[in-house]
Amino acid sequence: EKAGYKHFMLKEIFEQPQAITNTVSGRINLESGVVNLPEVGLLPKDLEDIDRIFLVACGTSWHAALVAKYWIEEFARIPVEVDIASEFRYRTLLMNRRVLTVSISQSGETADTLAGIRIARKMGAKILTICNVVGSTMTREADGTIYTHAGPEIGVASTKAFISQLSALFLFSLYLGQIRGTIDGATGKRYGRALIDIATVVAEELPRLQEEIGSLVENYYDSRDFLFIGRGLNFPIALEGALKLKEISYIHAEGYASGELKHGPIALIDKDMPVLALVPRDKVYQKSISNVEEIKARQGRVIVIGTKGDDYLHNITDDVIYMPEVDEVVNPILYTVPAQLLSYQIAVKRGCDVDQPRNLAKSVTVE
Ligand code: F6R
Repeated sequence: EKAGYKHFMLKEIFEQPQAITNTVSGRINLESGVVNLPEVGLLPKDLEDIDRIFLVACGTSWHAALVAKYWIEEFARIPVEVDIASEFRYRTLLMNRRVLTVSISQSGETADTLAGIRIARKMGAKILTICNVVGSTMTREADGTIYTHAGPEIGVASTKAFISQLSALFLFSLYLGQIRGTIDGATGKRYGRALIDIATVVAEELPRLQEEIGSLVENYYDSRDFLFIGRGLNFPIALEGALKLKEISYIHAEGYASGELKHGPIALIDKDMPVLALVPRDKVYQKSISNVEEIKARQGRVIVIGTKGDDYLHNITDDVIYMPEVDEVVNPILYTVPAQLLSYQIAVKRGCDVDQPRNLAKSVTVE
């Protein structure tokens, strides 16, 4: 059942290339990059009329929503608000029929997220759900469902479901941009290709990453605290890395937007507070480099995840993990993988039960 893997979590991390392909295949034209999503259950005309989008989710699914905000605003130019479902449902919502509410949920049963879409529907909003479990309550109550098709996820910590949520949200963002004419043909094609190709890139890199990260954890596994930092599209991936680590290893970890360090958390930096920094060569690269240098100047230990060929990274830290260069819009999909593997390997080294962490359940149907 674990197909030779030590844990379901590791098996599911290695199933991610397939999960991406399952989510994407049949929904995008390989030649033109044109996305087709009849299952959204809304007419192109409805989608043209939308003037705001709410993304509602919990936990890891909320992190997927945070990434999607960047994509939707960039590709489709629609303002997006991202809400934690347990906040969304208890605040004053400015909602009407021109607002699209999208719930994101692996299980389709999370109580707060479900309550959130029920409220939005009552207020006249259109409802879309991004979901993994076929026939779940959320899919039955939404106007449309984009299934992620990641397959059953057994490990309590979400891995392949998250990667599929990102893939589905990327598709949806591209689709919106194409319908609304905010993305030109050539760009749409380039982004579509980047999404399709990322499955192969992840598949090629997984074994090497598993090995390289394995040789790093010796120096980090007995930490009491950890910081994860990133900017832009990779800020939510820092949050997700920190959540993975705390769930399965019980190490206290926090994710931060790199630029926020100097507004408080930098006070924590010393040799006992390692930092994982996501530093791809993207449009905020220089700023991210400065943040790592600030940490080093305070005797912090930093693992940098950056772009292959970026030799400068070796000048600022000892521990560098290189990722291949891909179109920066799909970086969050790629950079999720080393963050997951680091958390997994640290947890295993600490002797934790990674598939069944204490106090957690796969589906949270209490409020
Ligand atoms: C973390 C994790 C949880 C879930 C959250 C939402 O690894 O699995 O944070 O993401 O409970 O669950 P769904 O997506 O089923 O609504």
